[in-house]
Amino acid sequence: MAGTKPLFNRASSDTSGGRDIAEEDALLTGQPTHRSTGPRTWKFWREIGLFVWAVIATAAVIVLAVVYQQHGTAKHSSPHPTGKRNLIFMVSDGMGPTSLSLTRSFMQFQNGAPFSEQLVLDQHLIGQSRTRSSSSLITDSAAGATAFSCAQKSYNGAISVTPDHEPCGTVLEAAKKAGYMTGLVVTTRITDATPACFAAHVNMRSEEDRIAEQMVGDYPLGRVVDLMFGGGRCHFVPNSTVDESCRADDKDVVALAKKNGFNYIDSRKAFDDLKGGSGVKFPMLGLFAETDIPYEIDRRNENDVYPSLHEMAQTALTALSEATRDSEKGFFLMIEGSRIDHAGHHNDPAAQVHEVLAYDKAFTTVLDFLKKDKTEAVMISTSDHETGGLATARQLHASYPEYVWYPGPLANASHSAERLALQYTTYLFSDPTDSQKHEFLEDQIEDGLGIYDATPDEISNLVKEPATALYQYADMISRRSQTGWSTHGHSAADVNIYSSDPKAALPLVGNHENTEVGDFLREYLGVDVEAVTKELREKGTNLNVMNADGEQVSWMGKIPEEGQRLDGQTHLATYGGDFKKRHLLHGRGCDCGH
Ligand SMILES: *[C@@H]1O[C@H](CO)[C@@H](O)[C@H](O)[C@H]1NC(C)=O
Ligand SMILES: *[C@@H]1O[C@H](CO)[C@@H](O)[C@H](O)[C@H]1NC(C)=O
Ligand SMILES: [Zn+2]
Repeated sequence: MAGTKPLFNRASSDTSGGRDIAEEDALLTGQPTHRSTGPRTWKFWREIGLFVWAVIATAAVIVLAVVYQQHGTAKHSSPHPTGKRNLIFMVSDGMGPTSLSLTRSFMQFQNGAPFSEQLVLDQHLIGQSRTRSSSSLITDSAAGATAFSCAQKSYNGAISVTPDHEPCGTVLEAAKKAGYMTGLVVTTRITDATPACFAAHVNMRSEEDRIAEQMVGDYPLGRVVDLMFGGGRCHFVPNSTVDESCRADDKDVVALAKKNGFNYIDSRKAFDDLKGGSGVKFPMLGLFAETDIPYEIDRRNENDVYPSLHEMAQTALTALSEATRDSEKGFFLMIEGSRIDHAGHHNDPAAQVHEVLAYDKAFTTVLDFLKKDKTEAVMISTSDHETGGLATARQLHASYPEYVWYPGPLANASHSAERLALQYTTYLFSDPTDSQKHEFLEDQIEDGLGIYDATPDEISNLVKEPATALYQYADMISRRSQTGWSTHGHSAADVNIYSSDPKAALPLVGNHENTEVGDFLREYLGVDVEAVTKELREKGTNLNVMNADGEQVSWMGKIPEEGQRLDGQTHLATYGGDFKKRHLLHGRGCDCGH
C-alpha cells in the first residue's frame, strides 16, 4: 500500500465499510489502485464465489421476468375478452411527475406527516407514457386525447381526426355500439379537448360550439354519450341569452339535447337531487358552470355552488353501475382532473397542489368503488402531457444555489391567482385612485395569498400592469416557495401511468407511447373501433353544415390553415432560428410576466 495517498479528504468513518480508501479513489477516478498482489487468500476466493453467484442470480431473474412478461402479455392483451367488464379511464390533464413531488411534500407539510407518507396515486404507479404528437415533440390536449381515444398520433389541435383530416372512431363510440354505457366527467368545459376527443370530431379544437352539438348527438352517429358532468354551459345556450352564452350563433343546444332525450341539470341543487347516483335518469347532461368549474382551492369555499370532482365521479359510477346491473355489458367512464393543466399554465403552485389532491381523492373514490363492485373492471390513470415545465427548485440569486423548496407559502394561500386577478379586475371598475389600489392590493395579498412580506415593487407592478396580475400573483407564491417553471405552456416530459390492477393493466407496465394507452382501452373492452371509423367516413361524406357566418363547411368544421395549428406544421416542427427571430420581435427581456 506504500505510495497510495488518498486523493480526497473524507471523514474516517467513510473507510469503515470494508472498502479501503485506495479502492474508493479508484472508483472515483477510474485509476487502478496499485494494490500489491500478494498470495491469494480465502477472502479473495470467497469474493469470486459471491461474484459468480450474483451473476447467475441476475441472469435467472432476467429469464424469469421475460418468461413472466410474455406469459402475461399473451394472457392479458387478448383482443377478444369475454365476460362483462367496466373500464374507468382517468386523465390528469397537465400533471407531470414533478406535480406529484410538489403535492406529496405539500400534503406531508400540511398534515405534519412523515416523509414516508405517500399520495394514493403513488401507491399505484405502473409506468410512464411518452406524449409527442404527429406535429410536435410537445403535444397539446387535443392530440394527446386523440392518442387515447383513437390510438393514433395526430396534430396539435386535432379532435379525433387524423393528420389528413379524416375522422377516426373513438373507444367511447365503439363501446356504445357494442352495448356498453358511456360517461364523461370533467372539471373544465365538457367541450374542451380531452372530453371532446371521445365523442366529437372536429379539425380545430377551438370549435367548441360545434363540439357541443356533436356531443349531444347532432353528428353522423347520433347520441353516443349516456352521461356528461362538467362545465361549459355557455357553449350550449343561444347567443340571445346575452350574459350566459359564448356561442357565435343562436342555436339552443340545451333544447337540442332535450330533443335527443337528455335529462338536463345545471345546478348544485339538481346535482344533490341525483342522491349520489340513484336518482340519475339517463341520458344525463349536467353542466354546473358557465365555463370551467372553479379551481379546488376556490371551489371548496363554494361547495354549495359547484360539485367536486370526486362527488361527480362517485355519482357517475353509482348511476352507471346500477344502470348496467342486468346488462351483459358494463360501462366505459372517462374522468378528468382537467384543471391541473390550467394551474400549470398559470404557474400557480398553490392552485396546482389542491387540483392534484382533488384528483387523488377522485382516484380513491374509483378504487373504493372497484373494491365493492363485483363486475370485472380496471382503472387506468394517466396524463396527456406535462404543463409548465414544473421544478421543485428555483434559483433566485446569482450566488451558488440553495438546496431548498418550501411548501409553507403554498399552505398559506387560500385563493388561486386566477381568482385574485378576477377580484382585482372587478375592483378596478370602481375607478380607484393609485393609493386606494395600493391599499386594496396589500390587503388582498395578505388575505388571499397569506403573504406578509410583499415588496413595494411587487405592489407597484400590480398597479402598473393589471393585465398580467394573474401571473404576478402566481409568481409571488412561486418565488417564496422557490418553485420553478420553464414555460406557461406544455413540456415534452414523460408522464406517469397508474392503475387499480397492475396485472390487468400489464400491457401498460413500463414505458409506453401514448397511443399504446389507446390500444389498451379498446382491447380491454374488446370493441371494434375500425368499424366506427368506417361508418363515420361513409356517413360523413358530403355531409356539410352551415357555419355561424352562413358558410357551408364539412361537418368537422374548417380545416386549419397552416399556422392556425398550434405549431403551424403537419410534420414534426424543427428549429429554424426562432430564437433570433423572437429576439428581434421582443427585445432582450422575457415578456412572460417576470
Ligand atoms: C347571434 O347569432 C346569429 C346567427 O345565428 C347572428 O346573426 C347574430 O348576430 C348573433 N348575435 C350576437 C349578439 O352575436
Ligand atoms: C403564513 O401566514 C402567517 C400568518 O397567518 C404568517 O405569520 C407567516 O409568515 C406566513 N408564512 C409564509 C411562509 O408566508
Ligand atoms: Zn394545457
